[in-house]
Amino acid sequence: MAPCADAGQTPRSPSRPANEAATSGPWSPDMGVPTLEKLSFQSRTGGKPQDYFNFSRDGLYPVALPASDKRVLVVRDAKMVRLIMTDPRFSLARLDPSEDTVTGTGYQSCNGMLRQDVPHIRRTRHGIISHFSEQSIAPWRHEVEDVADDLISKLLDGCQPPDLNKRYFEPFIVKAVALSAGITEDESDKLYGFSNRVLVRVESADDRARICAAWSELYEYSSELIDRKLRDPDDRLLSRIFAEFKNTRLCHDEIVAASGTILAGFYTPFGILGVCAVELFRHPDVVKACQNEPRLWGRTVEELMRYKAHFNFFLPRVATEDVTLGEVDIRAGQVVLPSIHAAATDPNSFTRPNIFSIDRNRTRCNIVFGAGPHFCPGAALSRQWLQVGLERLFITLPGLRLTKPYSELQWQPGSISMPHEVPVTWD
Ligand code: HEM
Repeated sequence: MAPCADAGQTPRSPSRPANEAATSGPWSPDMGVPTLEKLSFQSRTGGKPQDYFNFSRDGLYPVALPASDKRVLVVRDAKMVRLIMTDPRFSLARLDPSEDTVTGTGYQSCNGMLRQDVPHIRRTRHGIISHFSEQSIAPWRHEVEDVADDLISKLLDGCQPPDLNKRYFEPFIVKAVALSAGITEDESDKLYGFSNRVLVRVESADDRARICAAWSELYEYSSELIDRKLRDPDDRLLSRIFAEFKNTRLCHDEIVAASGTILAGFYTPFGILGVCAVELFRHPDVVKACQNEPRLWGRTVEELMRYKAHFNFFLPRVATEDVTLGEVDIRAGQVVLPSIHAAATDPNSFTRPNIFSIDRNRTRCNIVFGAGPHFCPGAALSRQWLQVGLERLFITLPGLRLTKPYSELQWQPGSISMPHEVPVTWD
């Protein structure tokens, strides 16, 4: 077996560690041990992720976590990524929150969905998943379309040039969550605020107290929501899933913690929408094809997510025993960070992966929503919202385009690089 890439060797492609790159010539022992490159949430030109998230035949690449300096391995091959996501020897529950946390998700309660391993997570998800299915959410599609149309008519009446992030994508997701979840827009707005405080990047050990406090506030807020929906249910998502949690005999604290993960996750499509729209502006031929044949929106959204509009990485996992990944030995205790970007652009899964094309034979890219026991329950909702949000916008506003060149857009740092603003005009 090849030694683990983390066995103290100089990493190979895509680049050498930052401190090493600053020296001329090869590293030698009298230079001291090279400091590892820190995991960065900054994007490169055009919102591209850091190079080490790209697919690589080298497979693994060591980086240091920003808050703890802990050495983790970025996994950059679709097969390895899938294995980590599905193999019970890679654990979320055994991560050490004080050392292994990359995003605020790591600081949720240990009963939160993204901190549980099998069999606990199976028990938590048992019963609720069917309520998130394409079939279950289909009846709300027309209402979501009305939300989009209403916001677009306000865009038409408002001053130009509007920032789509503020005037369309953000309110669209807040309203779509409200109607699908069965809460008021004010409640959805409040939950969106919590989501923005808990699903954040962790860059320093000092971030922990602030993020943990935000999770506690979210739990407190959702506890009342849960009691109310259990007492006075409706036919929307939250009433259904809280009732299922109760049927599964989760105790109140477990219900609050599991619901907290879901409530925070609801708003994820906002950032994805901005990335999709900006990419569509670069492909007017695709927009035209979709305008002529609306059935193409489904595969277009899928390709947008595969090509660019995805998180760069999954949550880290820790190996609970020695595991061989491909030809590499991973030792028990090693923390790995599977790259979604690499999995979605692995040439073994997608031919010419760095080309945006809606003509692919493979039309779905599920890996952007995860794999295995933590596969995103919100995948169908997200697909519905992305399709409706983009379709209504591009159909109603012909000639929709950016008011500044793509190259001048600012990209926000994060686990997904999203445009800071999307200023537009139309004919
Ligand atoms: C385009 C939008 C979305 C993307 C790209 C996305 C992506 C993901 C990914 C990659 C995971 C797996 C993380 C991991 O295993 O490390 C995940 C899990 C999760 N997502 Fe989403 N998500 C989206 C929207 C949503 C929505 C709308 C909801 C609301 C219900 C949601 C709720 C969750 C929950 C609760 C989990 C944890 C599941 C578990 O631990 O069993 N997500 N999501």
